[in-house]
Amino acid sequence: MEWNGILRGLWLFLPAYVANMAPVFVARLIPAWNAPMDGGRDAADGRRILGPGKTWRGLAGGAFFGGVTALVLSLLAPVTSFVLDADDFGRSAGASPSNIFLFGSVLGALALVGDAVKSYFKRRRAIERGGSWIPFDQLDFVVFGLAGVFLFSWLLPAGWVAEAFLTDWVVLATLLVLTPVLHLTVNRIGYWMGLKEVPW
Ligand code: CTP
Ligand code: MG
Repeated sequence: MEWNGILRGLWLFLPAYVANMAPVFVARLIPAWNAPMDGGRDAADGRRILGPGKTWRGLAGGAFFGGVTALVLSLLAPVTSFVLDADDFGRSAGASPSNIFLFGSVLGALALVGDAVKSYFKRRRAIERGGSWIPFDQLDFVVFGLAGVFLFSWLLPAGWVAEAFLTDWVVLATLLVLTPVLHLTVNRIGYWMGLKEVPW
């Protein structure tokens, strides 16, 4: 086991982490664009399908900032390559900036699709918008983000995703174990800063 697997896991998944945080900021930037993904409709149980907290704005913001993050990380590769060797989102292996952006975007979008799917199940369990559902609130975007990474691995040079995510088991373990801890910490900070309504 290599200790830098922890850093590598966090680094590689940064587009998904940023995407997952983006909706709260985008909601502040464009409060008027609050069209909900479920169109305001209820499910058969009389509760909202997803709820008012899942907007197209959030999904679009996550996709955009996920893409920007991947691009920035690929440009930082010369600076960060001392920590890891697959840190450049395939740039040194010939990936184009547009494909790197697209890869970060689908990673971010899928992360927020996972977040919305989780909300579907929260509503079915009668948990109101903003209510806590540990550990699903923390892991939804990891599971869907990882699915996105492998589904869209063809955007990057052949073998890059497998090499980056699967060479060291610590990478996946970090994402699954450390993410909930980080997520709860970041949300608490966001709450203190007045960005979030609730501390989870
Ligand atoms: N958000 C959004 N669109 C999304 C996801 C999030 O606009 N697709 C915004 C909403 O303002 C939301 C906030 O980001 O309230 C925090 O996101 P999250 O914690 O995922 O939503 P909750 O409000 O907690 O709703 P739920 O209980 O359904 O998870
Ligand atoms: Mg929440």
